[in-house]
Order: sequence, then structure tokens, then C-alpha cells
Amino acid sequence: MDAVALTVPEVSFPNGEPRPALGLGTWRFGEAADRRAAELDSLRQALEMGWRVIDTAEMYGDGGAESLTGEALAAAQRAGVPRGELFVVSKALPQHAGARALQAACEASLRRLQLDQLDLYLLHWRGDVPVGETVRGFEQLQRRGLIRLWGVSNFDLDDMRELSAVPGGRACATNQVYYSLSQRGVEHDLLPWQRVQQMPLMAYSPFDQGELVDHPRLRPVAERHRATPAQVALAWLLRQPGVMAIPKAGNALHLRHNWAAQRLKLTAEDLVELDRHFAPPRGRQPLAVR
Ligand SMILES: NC(=O)c1ccc[n+]([C@@H]2O[C@H](COP(=O)([O-])OP(=O)(O)OC[C@H]3O[C@@H](n4cnc5c(N)ncnc54)[C@H](OP(=O)(O)O)[C@@H]3O)[C@@H](O)[C@H]2O)c1
Repeated sequence: MDAVALTVPEVSFPNGEPRPALGLGTWRFGEAADRRAAELDSLRQALEMGWRVIDTAEMYGDGGAESLTGEALAAAQRAGVPRGELFVVSKALPQHAGARALQAACEASLRRLQLDQLDLYLLHWRGDVPVGETVRGFEQLQRRGLIRLWGVSNFDLDDMRELSAVPGGRACATNQVYYSLSQRGVEHDLLPWQRVQQMPLMAYSPFDQGELVDHPRLRPVAERHRATPAQVALAWLLRQPGVMAIPKAGNALHLRHNWAAQRLKLTAEDLVELDRHFAPPRGRQPLAVR
């Protein structure tokens, strides 16, 4: 791929805070002892390379991904990365969405992450707890200084509208959903709605958990740019205003390729070709979930 130095794509949160539009996923990390050293190494290399947004969750590896992330973050800060440059995101399980349970879940996440404060704390998906109660829990965490921003994940447009209507609900900073070239349903309603609210959409599984990384339909576009199909899939997301993508990568080569995708500028011709193979939604679709 042509090495043209360009500014790194960014999104702006509703409080006006700009952050990189590219973050790192950690699902599947922290699940197996024999992969621990390699996973930690990968996280360390990511931070050395310049990755600053990290997405994790209490669910991943039953806290194991947060613990690994915590070790890598501590090492990065010892090496001089300022805390303010880092944007650490974690998520609470729906069974912890009650206002009180959320306090304990967040405290446990912070302990594992070796942090005093999360930059962004999300409800992983909606369960039985009324959203208004979860919002009260988030507000309490903010008052206690344990989180800066809060948001949700796997909410469709109806869920978002319901959330907006509860007291404090409009302070939601993001909605993290499945969005990739092959899962474009959010373009019909959710993404435009979030853009009006100036609320970035965090696109998870941007490679369809690996299915897109060598997709034959992406190869011609990739070849034109001397890039890889994975880079095309990522650049396609990163070119969109208000979209943050959080690919997971478990080795230095993938991390480097994904980092370089920030410089890949798709042409109008590329976009027409991609639309032909990965059609945009024609109507409302149920929210895709992984
Ligand atoms: N909120 C939610 O409900 C939710 C759901 C799913 C995911 N997420 C978040 O989103 C993150 C990303 O989604 P994901 O983990 O489901 O899948 P993904 O990022 O779509 O795909 C990850 C897969 O792509 C491979 N890969 C990464 N970069 C590559 C490259 N440049 N070339 C070739 N292969 C590459 C990885 O392999 P290697 O590991 O070998 O590099 C891994 O197998 C998660 O880790 C998690 O943080 C959130």
C-alpha cells in the first residue's frame, strides 16, 4: 500500500472529545493459560505501535482479557505513555446492570485493569433490568469518579429511543454494534440516528471474526491499492464519519496491517464495486449480533 502520511481518522464523542477511530478488540484474549504470554506480547506491541483505544469486557475470558489488558496498560504507562492518551473501554454483563450490581462490577473491572477510572463503560447487551436503572448506576459511577463516559452495546434504534427518553439517557456516549461490509443493516436507521445525536457508533467484528480477511470479493480492490483484503474491509469502515472500528488482532503483523489501513483511501470506483458485492440495506433489518 502507498505510504502516504495522512492524519489518523478520529471520532468525536458527544462531550466534544476527539479519539482515534481505530481501536483494538480483546475478545478471546485471556481464555487459555498457554496463550497468555503471546496475547500479552501482542497487547504490548499494539501499545508500542501507537494503538490507544482498547475495548474489553468483564465477559471476555471471565475477566482474563481485562487482566491482560491491565498488565499491558501498566507497562505502557511505566514506559511513558500518558494515561490521558489512553481510552479504555469495558462492558458490564446484563446481570450486573442493576444500579448496585453495576458498582461492584465496575470496581472489579477496574481492579483487573489496574486503573482508577474507565474512559467508557458500556452495558454489553440489554437484559431484564430497566434501562433507567442502569443509567442511574452509570451516573453514580460518574459521581464516584470511576467512569468518565458511559454507553450501550447491541441496542437497536427502538432501544436507543427508549434509552433517550429516560432521565439522563441522552448522556449516552456510544452504541457498540456489529457493523462490517457484510452486515450493513445499521446504515438504514441506527447509524444516521446516532450521527444526528453526534454519538459515534463503535463497529465490532469489523472482519466478521475473520471471514472477511481474505474475502475473494475484496481482493481486486486490495490489489489496486497494494493492500490486503482485511485492510480494505477496515478502511471501508474508517472512512465513514462517526464510526469507530475495533478489530481484534493477535499478532504483530495483523496489528501493523490494521494500523496501516488508516492510510488507505478508497476511491469512488472502489466504493461502487464494494456496494455491488456487499449491498447496502434496502429497508429496516434486525440488528445483527455476534
Ligand atoms: N459488544 C459486543 O457484543 C461485541 C461482540 C463481538 C466483538 N466485540 C468487540 O469487537 C472486537 C472485534 O471483533 P471480533 O473479535 O469479534 O472479530 P474481528 O475483529 O472481526 O476479527 C478478528 C479476527 O480477524 C483476524 N485478523 C485481524 N486482523 C487481521 C489481518 N490484518 N489480517 C488477517 N486476519 C486478521 C484475527 O486473527 P488473529 O487474532 O490471529 O490476529 C481474528 O481471527 C472484539 O475483540 C471485541 O472487543 C464486541
